[in-house]
Amino acid sequence: MRSDAVHRVLEEEIAEARARRDGRPPRVLDVGGGSGVWAVPMASAGCEVTVVDPSPNALATLQRRAADAGVAQLITALQGDTEALHAFAPPGGADLVLGHGLLEYVDDVATSLVSLAAATADGGAVSVLVSNRYAAVLASALAGRPADALRVLRDPAGRYDGAGDTVLRRFDGAELADRMREAGLSVDLVQGQGVFTDLVPGSVLEGHGAEPLAELERAAAVTPPLRDIASRLHALGRPVR
Ligand SMILES: C[S@@+](CC[C@H](N)C(=O)[O-])C[C@H]1O[C@@H](n2cnc3c(N)ncnc32)[C@H](O)[C@@H]1O
Repeated sequence: MRSDAVHRVLEEEIAEARARRDGRPPRVLDVGGGSGVWAVPMASAGCEVTVVDPSPNALATLQRRAADAGVAQLITALQGDTEALHAFAPPGGADLVLGHGLLEYVDDVATSLVSLAAATADGGAVSVLVSNRYAAVLASALAGRPADALRVLRDPAGRYDGAGDTVLRRFDGAELADRMREAGLSVDLVQGQGVFTDLVPGSVLEGHGAEPLAELERAAAVTPPLRDIASRLHALGRPVR
């Protein structure tokens, strides 16, 4: 897996789950897992992964990717959504539940988070990755679109006006943590992903090597206020039972 702050936290989670399970494969439930951006690396790391996603196209791509990576036998792809998650995922059946790039699209954030929490085993965790509204403000302003930046800043859901915006909502870190607590999760951490990488053109970074930037990203990910302008916000929570 990659070396950013989110991957590092999830690697630790997987290692702890493996230890709790006496070396048996950790069980990962990837809700809205789409084409397997997270599921395939998790399976390659030795996890048994169930992906639940409503998009048949995304699931077909997932299965191709899984086959190419030689991990098809570790991935179960199910067509469904968070609203019916109980039909696909037994209560308490997953050591790690991913909701990455999911909460921006679901009809109801509260019900979705409750479903993710219910699917999590004792000792396990829910990992949520969402679009950061302040990153969208910053990106619009830096792209010379101040009116768009102002709309995202003022809109309660952090959206641009009109049909151009494909997400239903964006979050800030405090709101994300509050929503998780309301769903019965204790929040271990909120960190950023992509503080500088999405702001600095690749051409500027070329020639400096990948590691200095990666190290800077890891430090910024957990350092407010830099964390608070990251493209995505990552939170890890545990069901309170
Ligand atoms: C932005 S993609 C994220 C894919 C992947 N999790 C990632 O991080 O790269 C959003 C995914 O959520 C799925 N999705 C949308 N609404 C959903 C719902 N109600 N329940 C589960 N998945 C949903 C979409 O089909 C899509 O594959």
